[in-house]
Amino acid sequence: MALPYDTKRLDDSDEGIAEAARLILAGEPVAVPTETVYGLAADATNADAVAAIYAAKGRPSFNPLIVHVPDLEAARRLGKFDQDALALAADHWPGPLTIVVPRRVDAGIASIVTAGLDSIAIRVPAHPTMRAILAKVGRPLAAPSANASGRISPVRADHVLASLDGRIAAVVDGGKTERGLESTIVAATGGGLRLLRRGPVSIDATEETGDKIEAPGQMSSHYAPGKPLRLDVLTAEPDEFLIGFGPVAGDQSLSASGDPVEAAAHLFDLLHVADRSHQPRIAIAPIPGDGIAAAIRDRLKRAAAPR
Ligand code: TXA
Ligand code: MG
Repeated sequence: MALPYDTKRLDDSDEGIAEAARLILAGEPVAVPTETVYGLAADATNADAVAAIYAAKGRPSFNPLIVHVPDLEAARRLGKFDQDALALAADHWPGPLTIVVPRRVDAGIASIVTAGLDSIAIRVPAHPTMRAILAKVGRPLAAPSANASGRISPVRADHVLASLDGRIAAVVDGGKTERGLESTIVAATGGGLRLLRRGPVSIDATEETGDKIEAPGQMSSHYAPGKPLRLDVLTAEPDEFLIGFGPVAGDQSLSASGDPVEAAAHLFDLLHVADRSHQPRIAIAPIPGDGIAAAIRDRLKRAAAPR
C-alpha cells in the first residue's frame, strides 16, 4: 500500500526550522531533535494533529504524551507546580527531566494528549533546534519519541526514517542526540515526588518503587530491536553481535572506559547497529552501577522482554 508522505529531511538552518514550524502549525507532526532522543512533535492544542502522531507511530491511544514548552512560565500555564515541582524545575530545566503535575482545566491542551488523565507530563527541553521550533510555533508541542510504537528510540534522523519514512511529513536533522536516553520522569502530584522513569537526570530525594517504576506507557516489552537480545553477557555465541562495555570489548563498545554517561549516549545507536548487522541475535555486556547505569538497565530489560 502506498504510504501517505514523501518524508522531507530538513536541515537545522533557519529555513529548515521555519519549514518545520509551518508544517506543525498546519497540523502535521514533524520529527525533531532534542537532547534526549528525537521526538515526533505536534501542536498540543490541536487534537487532530496529536491524533496524527498516534496514527504515525501505531501507538495505543491510552498512552499519554509529554508536552514540551520553552520555560517554567509556560509550564505553569498548563499544570500546577507545588514547592517540590518548582525546586525540580529550578534545578533541571531546561534539560532531560519531565515533571508530571496536576493538569490545569484551562490549559488549552487537547485531551487526547493526556489520554484522559487529570495530570500532565511537561518538559522544558535544552536542545537549541527544539527550542527554536518551540519559539517559532509559539504553542506547546506534544512529542513522544519519534519511532514506531514499541521500537528502539531514535537518536539520529536516519533512525527516525527507518521506522517512520513515508508516515510523517518531515524530519529535522540535528545530528546525533547528546544524551541518548529518554528524559527522567518524576511525578509531583501530591504526597512527595515519585520516580516514574529513570533517565539522564538522577534524582536522590525521590521515593522509588523498585520494579514497579511505571508511567502508563512503559509496557514491559518496549525499546525492542527486531532480534532477540541477551543481557549480562561476557562472551558472545558465534551468531551474536556483542555490544561491549568496560572490560567486555564486544563487536563495538558502549564505552571502553566503562563510563555510563558515554554508554547512555551510545545505547540506542548501537542497538540500531546491532539490529542491522548480519548476526541474527544480539548480546550485551553487564552495565553495573546506580543512576544512569540503572536507567540503561531499565531500557535493556524491556528490550530483551519476550514479545
Ligand atoms: O526524552 C523524552 O522524554 C522524549 C523526548 C521527545 O522528549 N519523549 C519521550 O516520550 O520519551 P514517550 O512518549 O516515548 O514517553 C513518555 C512517557 C510514557 O511512558 C508515558 O506513559 C509517560 O511519559 N507519561 C506521559 N504523561 C503522563 C502522565 N500524565 N502521568 C504519568 N506518565 C505520563
Ligand atoms: Mg518512547
